[in-house]
Amino acid sequence: MDRLPAARRFVRRFVAGPTLADALGVVAGLNAGGVDALVTYLGENVTTTEGAARAAGAYLELLDEIARRRLRAVPSLKLTHLGLDLGESVCRAHLETVAARGLTTRALVWIDMESSAYTHRTLDLYQRLHATYSNLACVVQAYLRRTARDVERLIELGATVRLCKGAYREPPEIAFSDKREVDANYARLIDRLLAADALARGVYPAFATHDERLLRRARETAEAGGVAPDRFELQMLYGIRHDLHAPLRAAGLRLRVLVPYGEDWYGYFMRRLAERPANLAFLFRHLLRA
Ligand code: FDA
Repeated sequence: MDRLPAARRFVRRFVAGPTLADALGVVAGLNAGGVDALVTYLGENVTTTEGAARAAGAYLELLDEIARRRLRAVPSLKLTHLGLDLGESVCRAHLETVAARGLTTRALVWIDMESSAYTHRTLDLYQRLHATYSNLACVVQAYLRRTARDVERLIELGATVRLCKGAYREPPEIAFSDKREVDANYARLIDRLLAADALARGVYPAFATHDERLLRRARETAEAGGVAPDRFELQMLYGIRHDLHAPLRAAGLRLRVLVPYGEDWYGYFMRRLAERPANLAFLFRHLLRA
């Protein structure tokens, strides 16, 4: 996959490119169109302390470059990229370094949510660091049965929280396997995160989805509750439903797009293929033609 030029071109639909400069070029374009960004340096499940340190270093450089270029962008990282598999202390030290730099450059630092093997540890670490690093933000997944409870905990904390559907393969005991159940849970969680008591506690929700029905639901719920458009945001992934950007911005909604970059694109790209089988067919046609 990595060596085939046709495959690389297809990957570039979802990934800005191998370098930080590639990502920041995309971010500048998004910002010019009134869209904010999240930037992810691709990588996960590192197995060496050097790999974790490299990831942390990349996020420090990213924060500095964003500030230097005055871009409207913030990082979104994975704890296993910062070494969670090597032990919590390794990961925590790197996360604190990145969060501290984010405080000085006035940037939020989003902690992505990975597979259910990490849910508890991720939310726990977020909860412990939240008081010191008010710029940390976390993610919950609507496909997990536990998420309604986690959301209540995050509301207590007044968290900045992204709601996504969830992108990993999970067993039915812990995750809804029927797409309709996931969507219904997502809709309920929109209502909960936009409720007056949640907002009064300082919750700032971000609804990460390309699902037009759920985007409409978020917008209508906010309107019905008199929630100002700057009290929440919508988030999407680079390369997906770009056609929605302009109408959402024209409706006065805050929009942020996640821009991934780096060489380690395999896991991220495979999740994008798995989400939409049509992508796989498209990739095969593309490769055959090439
Ligand atoms: P759904 O899958 O129902 O798709 C709705 C529509 O969007 C589709 O009909 C199609 O038009 C389009 N679409 C969706 N995926 C596509 C694709 N791959 N290619 C082309 N079109 C596509 N997950 C996670 O587990 N942890 C995390 O931290 C994050 N973080 C995150 C950040 C942001 C900003 C976003 C937008 C998403 C995530 N996700 C995530 C991924 C998320 O869980 C989910 O897998 C994807 O967003 C796809 O689900 P949708 O909500 O878009 O709905």
